[in-house]
Amino acid sequence: MTTYITTPIYYVNAQPHLGHAYTTIVADTYSRFNRICGDDVRFQTGTDEHGDKIAEAAEKENVEPKEYADRISGMFRDTWPLLQITPDNFIRTTDEEHIAVVQAILQKVYDKGDIYFDEYSGLYCRGCERFLTEKELVDGNCPDHQQPPQEIAEQNYFFRMSKYQQQLIDHINANPDFVTPERYRNEVLSFLSEPLEDLCISRPKSRLTWGIELPFDDTFVTYVWFDALINYLTGLGYPDDEKFKKYWPVAEHVIAKDILKPHAIYWPTMLLSMEVPLYKKLHVHGYWNVDDTKMSKSIGNVVRPKELVAEYGVDTLRYFTLREMSFGLDSSFSSEAIVARKNSDLANDLGNLFSRSLAMLKKYCDGVVPEPGAEEESDILLRETAEKMLPVYRESMSEFKFHTGLRSVWELVSYANKYIVTNEPWALAKSPDSKKRLETVLYNLTECLRLLSLVVKPVMPETAAKMVTALGIEADDPSVSLLDIGGKWNVLKPGTTMRAVEPLFPRVDVKKQTDKESQQPKKQKKKKEKSVPVDTEGLITFEQFKDVELRVAEIVAAEKVKKSDRLLKLTVNAPEERTIVAGIAEYYSPDDIIGMQVLIVANLKPAKLMGIPSQGMVLAAKTETDGEERLVLATVSGRVKTGSKVA
Ligand code: MSP
Repeated sequence: MTTYITTPIYYVNAQPHLGHAYTTIVADTYSRFNRICGDDVRFQTGTDEHGDKIAEAAEKENVEPKEYADRISGMFRDTWPLLQITPDNFIRTTDEEHIAVVQAILQKVYDKGDIYFDEYSGLYCRGCERFLTEKELVDGNCPDHQQPPQEIAEQNYFFRMSKYQQQLIDHINANPDFVTPERYRNEVLSFLSEPLEDLCISRPKSRLTWGIELPFDDTFVTYVWFDALINYLTGLGYPDDEKFKKYWPVAEHVIAKDILKPHAIYWPTMLLSMEVPLYKKLHVHGYWNVDDTKMSKSIGNVVRPKELVAEYGVDTLRYFTLREMSFGLDSSFSSEAIVARKNSDLANDLGNLFSRSLAMLKKYCDGVVPEPGAEEESDILLRETAEKMLPVYRESMSEFKFHTGLRSVWELVSYANKYIVTNEPWALAKSPDSKKRLETVLYNLTECLRLLSLVVKPVMPETAAKMVTALGIEADDPSVSLLDIGGKWNVLKPGTTMRAVEPLFPRVDVKKQTDKESQQPKKQKKKKEKSVPVDTEGLITFEQFKDVELRVAEIVAAEKVKKSDRLLKLTVNAPEERTIVAGIAEYYSPDDIIGMQVLIVANLKPAKLMGIPSQGMVLAAKTETDGEERLVLATVSGRVKTGSKVA
């Protein structure tokens, strides 16, 4: 199989931030995942260097646009290795080959009669570098740049986009995966339900010179989007190179929702006019927000990936972004959130499993993987958890549901930690009679680590490499590099000898972190808290609150309640086993929540729901995403002892 994955080419008017890093991490992870599936993969990123924005930024710094573009493009190029991002091609729109291809395409489309000259007046947003329709404005402003667009009237060249509207609608209807997730496909179909206007594809040189000259009129340069989108073809040596023939039929683009319209409407209609087959898929994600606002240079709330790598480590950043964001929806960045994920999922769960298991292998088996004996119940459960995880992981990763894929991997991590507690290898080591049992347990743990090193590899390449080295396996061994061969149980060869172990994730000391933050000068002085008279109506006393017993419960089984769309029957340990019926079926499937630790009200009088006695209540936050109300289960930020009281 072949894979061609691209990111947007980033404007060189700003340095790389977390938003750019996320898209590029996604594309890199997807390439690495497809490589472990045995695919021939090509991954392309790059920089978009023409247009108003860049000319303006260069002017502000008093340098030539090319010199400016060289500098910022270099920053993008240099950032990717720090994030373990390894593209096969880094394209720049100022590359000679790209300029030649753009001009050849313009000529072809012009000769075909799909480009005409006309007078136009419209509302132009410099930030978006395109004309906006009245409908797109919010309170008279561009919704992305929060500034009013400029009224511009001039003569220009236009691309007959409207000519291809119906063909595009038919294509989207016939190919449901053309734009994913579905919400964005619906958004595109909704744009297309109104008549499309033709696209202005030139800028008069009297207004802008920094662009690719039109081959049929040297008094104009090409509109930056008509130039930029073509990068996806030039990077493959379009039209004659073998790479184009091999990779274009499987082209997949990753973008955020800000540039949906150029990618889902301009680009496919351009391809239709050029008579080049349409790309295979467009994957659209949401925004990383800081304090509920999209991160952007103009707003001044940017988070720099370089700084995050220095503070938390590259794999933590990659894992955090992929685990935290549901692809397609917005997510919020905070240092608390990244520390919580690092300390809990990485240091506590995966890191501890790794160091404990290998310390025991060293202590009890001299670091040599033993031959396992007969399987007992807990061994079967561990194997079955791994076998259940693999197809979920594979499907989720190939469908860009990285958070679901990682959640399923962490179910195995969590079960493996439990497996240690259940089997108590340290107790087995005390008696020679239980030697074989001890060896079986240690074999299963090391086998589990081998499998984990393989499935975390696309997301955390450094961690995977450390795990593989410590396990004594060669990095290119198929058992740790190919999913078809390694994605099974009992693959690790007994006799494999472990090497020295490096800790995977040193914990972030939350106290130190807080102290450090508190030493930093605060931008705004905290207002002195005044004591204000309190209106106590509707409030409860501490005594009343004390009567409510909140506990952490672990969901061990879940199923849909028959004849109900809303209810799930949960079996939880808190720490004793009990049944709770919860109205969350519209938001969670049973498989999603098994293994989760949730908060419950433990001392509620039992009640019957659909005939099922329910002993307690699960807590959830009522929230809204894109106008849809939903429930999100309340959990704890790290794994705690089941049944812990919540104070
Ligand atoms: N140059 C155009 C793209 C041309 S592609 C043919 C452009 N450049 S950009 O520098 O503005 O990059 C936009 C892209 O950067 C988004 O689509 C997304 O991939 C990434 N992100 C920028 N800010 C982001 C967030 N705050 N959150 C998530 N991704 C973001 O548009």
